Amino acid sequence: MYCSSFIYEFFYLGGGFMKDKTYYITTPIYYPSDNFHIGHCYTTIICDAIARFKRLQGYDVFYLTGTDEHGQKIQKKAEAAGVSPQEYVDKIVANAKDLWKSLNISYDKFIRTTDEEHISCVQKIFKQLYDQGDIYKGEYKGLYCTPCESFWTESQLVDGKCPDCGRDVYEVSEEAYFLKLSKYQKRLEEYYDENPDFIEPLSRKNEMINNFLKPGLDDLCVSRTSFDWGIPVTFDEKHVVYVWLDALSNYISALGYNSDDDSLFKKFWPADVHVVGKEIVRFHVIIWPIILMALNIPLPKKVFGHGWLVINGGKISKSFGNGKDPREFINSYGVDAVRYYVLREVPFGSDGAFTEESLINRTNADLVNNLGNLVNRTISMSKKYFDGIVTNPKVNESIDDDLISSCLQLHDIVCSKVDELKVGEALQEIFEVLKKANKYIDDTTPWILAKDESSHDRLRTVLYNLLEVIRITTIYLQAFIPNTASKIFEQLNTKNTLFDQTIEFGLLEENIVLNEPVHLFDRIDVK
Ligand code: MSP
Repeated sequence: MYCSSFIYEFFYLGGGFMKDKTYYITTPIYYPSDNFHIGHCYTTIICDAIARFKRLQGYDVFYLTGTDEHGQKIQKKAEAAGVSPQEYVDKIVANAKDLWKSLNISYDKFIRTTDEEHISCVQKIFKQLYDQGDIYKGEYKGLYCTPCESFWTESQLVDGKCPDCGRDVYEVSEEAYFLKLSKYQKRLEEYYDENPDFIEPLSRKNEMINNFLKPGLDDLCVSRTSFDWGIPVTFDEKHVVYVWLDALSNYISALGYNSDDDSLFKKFWPADVHVVGKEIVRFHVIIWPIILMALNIPLPKKVFGHGWLVINGGKISKSFGNGKDPREFINSYGVDAVRYYVLREVPFGSDGAFTEESLINRTNADLVNNLGNLVNRTISMSKKYFDGIVTNPKVNESIDDDLISSCLQLHDIVCSKVDELKVGEALQEIFEVLKKANKYIDDTTPWILAKDESSHDRLRTVLYNLLEVIRITTIYLQAFIPNTASKIFEQLNTKNTLFDQTIEFGLLEENIVLNEPVHLFDRIDVK
C-alpha cells in the first residue's frame, strides 16, 4: 500500500520526474480543398497563444492541428486539377505547413487523416462500433445531382435545384452504415447537465439543446459507396467511412489511441479544450461525445465555439473570393502585427469584421505608439544617461506605487483571462499597464531629472521601474507575439524571464548592461 501510493505520487503527481500538469488543446482539422485564408489562421493563432501561455506556466502541453483530407469534394477538386487526390492534398498541406511556420505556430503534431496510423485507428473504431451494435447497415436516401455526382438534402437545395450547378436533382438511395445517435441521447443530455462548462459560450449550448436535442437525434450516416476517396470499411470494402467519424477521431488517433504505443493518449486524454468554429460545434458536442461514450472513453473537458472573421458581413472563404493569402499580410505588416490583430481585435466567441484598415489602426495604436514607443524610449534613455547600466538606488516616490501594483496584479488577471480563453482581454490588460508606463514617463519627466546631478538616483529608479514593467509584461507577451518578445529580451539582456518571475517586482538584475535599442514596429500609413 505504502509502496504503491509512493509510486503514484512520484510518477504521477510531480515527484520531479514527470510533469504533473498536462494541457491538450486542438484546432479543427481543416479541409485542404484550397489554400488556407486568414479565417483558418484565426483559430490556429488563438490556440497557439493559449498553448504557448500554458507552456510558460509550466504545463506539459500538446497542441494539435492538421488536415481533414477525405471526401467527395476533395476528390472532385483533384479530378478538376488533373491530379490524384493524394497529390492534390499533399500540395496544399505543404503550403499550410509553410504558412504555420511563417505565423510561428508551435503545434506539437500536425495530423493528416491520410496518415496510416489515423486510418488504422478509424478502421478499428468502425469495426468495434459495428461489432457492439452501435453501427448498423441501412439505406441512405438523398437527392442526387448526376453531373456533380453529389448528394444533397432538401434544405441544401437552392430553389429546388443543385446548389452547385443549378440543375435538377433526383431522389436516390444507397446502402450505408449508420451510427445510433438516438441510443445515447439521454446520456448526452445528462452529461450536459452535470458538466455546465462543457459547451462555451453558453449561447451555443442553448442553441444545441433547442435545435438538435429537443427535436430528437436522427441516426448518422457514417459510410458511403458513391465515392472512394476515404478510409475503406475493412469488412465491407465497397464502403468508405463518411467524413465526421473519420475527422473527429483525429483527436485521439493523433495520441496513438488504438495503436501499439498509446502513451500520449494515456498522458493527454481527455482534451482540455477543442476550439472550433461555431458552425461545427454541433459535431463536437453531439456526435463526438456519442462516439466516445460508445467507445467508453472520457469526454473532452470543453468545446469552445468561436465566431467568424467576416468581410462585409460574410464569412471569409476562398469561395467568396475574399480569402487573400495570409502571407500578403505578414509580408506587409509583419507576423506579430497579424498575430496581435487577430488575437486582440475580435472578442472571442463573437463574429468580428476583418479589415486591413483596422489591422493598420490596431498596429499603429498598440504596437507602434504604446509597446514600441515605451521600449524604445526607455532603453534609449538608459543608454543616453547611464550607458545602459541598470541600477536601482530605490529613490521611490508615491507615483511609482500605482504602476508597480498594476504590473503585479497582471499575473492573476492574465492567467484567469487565458483560462477563460479570453485572449483578447488578456492582451488588453497587459497593454493598459504599458499605457500607464508611457504615462509614467510623461509624469516623471526623465529628461528634466537628467539635467540635475542630484536627481540622478531618482532617474535611475524611474528607469529601473520602467525596465521592470517591460521585463514582466514581455514574459506574458512571449505567448502572443513571440518574435517581438525575444527582440525585447535581447535588448534587456536579462536572464530573469521565467513565468514565475512575474510575481515579484525588482528581479531585473542590477549592473547588467542593456543592448542597443532595436526598432520594433514601423508606423504604417493608412492607404
Ligand atoms: N474539416 C472540418 C472540421 C473537422 S474537425 C474534426 C471543417 N473544416 S473547414 O476547413 O471547413 O473549417 C475549419 C475551421 O475553420 C472551422 O472551425 C471554421 O469555423 C474555421 N473557419 C473557416 N473560415 C473562418 C472564418 N472566416 N473565420 C473564423 N473561422 C473560420 O469544418
